Amino acid sequence: MSFDLSVIPNKNIVLAVTGGIAAYKSAILVRRLKDAGFNVRVVMTHGAQAFITPLTFQALSGNPVHTELLNPEAEAGMGHIELARWADLLLVAPASCDTLAKFAAGLADDLLSTLYLATKSQVWVAPAMNQQMWAAKATQRNLNTLVEDGVHVIMPDAGSQACGDVGLGRMPEPEDLARQVTQYFHRAQRAIAEKFGMLAGKHVVITAGPTREAMDPVRYISNHSTGKMGFALAAACYAAGAKVTLIAGPVSLDTPNGVHRINVTSAVKMLEISMQMLDEGCDIFIATAAVADYRVAEVAEHKIKKTGDELNISLIKNPDIVATIAQQQKRPFMVGFAAETRNVEEYAAGKLVAKKLDMIACNDVSRPDIGFASDENAMIVFFAEQYHMQKRDLEKASKQEIAQQLVEAIHDALHHEIAPV
Ligand code: C5P
Repeated sequence: MSFDLSVIPNKNIVLAVTGGIAAYKSAILVRRLKDAGFNVRVVMTHGAQAFITPLTFQALSGNPVHTELLNPEAEAGMGHIELARWADLLLVAPASCDTLAKFAAGLADDLLSTLYLATKSQVWVAPAMNQQMWAAKATQRNLNTLVEDGVHVIMPDAGSQACGDVGLGRMPEPEDLARQVTQYFHRAQRAIAEKFGMLAGKHVVITAGPTREAMDPVRYISNHSTGKMGFALAAACYAAGAKVTLIAGPVSLDTPNGVHRINVTSAVKMLEISMQMLDEGCDIFIATAAVADYRVAEVAEHKIKKTGDELNISLIKNPDIVATIAQQQKRPFMVGFAAETRNVEEYAAGKLVAKKLDMIACNDVSRPDIGFASDENAMIVFFAEQYHMQKRDLEKASKQEIAQQLVEAIHDALHHEIAPV
């Protein structure tokens, strides 16, 4: 299995840079971590600032650089305790002898040593120093203490050193460090998936069924969607450990076990509830609903009477729910569906781009054996370009089995594992 060095959503790394010539490599490391999709905040010791300026790291990380423990201005922004809480990983690179000694002794006389004691996150150190200092008994003793305390030590490389010596003590290249960090998060995510389910901890919102657009108090415009695919997906997502909210149009299906269902009628109401869910925090949005493209411009207050041979009703366009959600700043992972009768793949790939989706599942509704009212389905799944994932053919199977495979596709895309070729 290979790993893609692209986006790991919403993981926070505090990169601490300490005094050493390898500090110049940390500038590139920030770049690589940002490329991989991490949020990065940089902490610098006073020693580090003799080698490289905070401004460099501020520009590269896009965040203010933290240098002081007791700076009222900085504490008003993100104080050291908040920074300690914010971190999913504290990566000290390069880690000087002095920093290792402070960590081992439990000192807390500057920002970094205090952070080390205050964080619950994983701590990694990438020692970089002269080979003799690396080999020194005190350094090795401190490293042993840190390993016992649960710190992960990234072994230095051997080679020629800035001081002219040759030996162990070079900080690994930034690309290598970024890869190790990425793999660590992939492994952690996989362990969580194995223990708690592929979508553990995620809030999934699913729209399902048709919408019903009123003409008058007794009539409406709608379509033949049964909601079966959306309901099967809701069950599969719940089984995969997710919290699931199902926004259902009028359908006659039982609510899957564990799923929170909100019934709606019109497209406008479906959008309103979808936006509310976004406010509450939604990680994955799956739009299976067959939303009516148009609604009646003016719904009659009373039943429309049979007055003439013709009745003209003016229709106006409904909002595109999935496209509207995809445009929001804090958008979830977006999954759309496309039911087509011809040029299935071409139209679906077009919708993926036009609606700014992350993934689209399409099916050929001209086939009589699958689709709308059927209990079976066959689909082709496309992913947005940035995932570097190949399209997947989901062979004809029950909607439950297709739903399970869609959950796997979502999980794989979220974790950016390149699909086996
Ligand atoms: O444009 P089309 O209706 O073919 O797109 C299908 C996808 O867009 C589905 O995922 C459907 O749920 C979603 N959609 C929507 N709001 C609309 C129309 C479609 O969310 N008004």
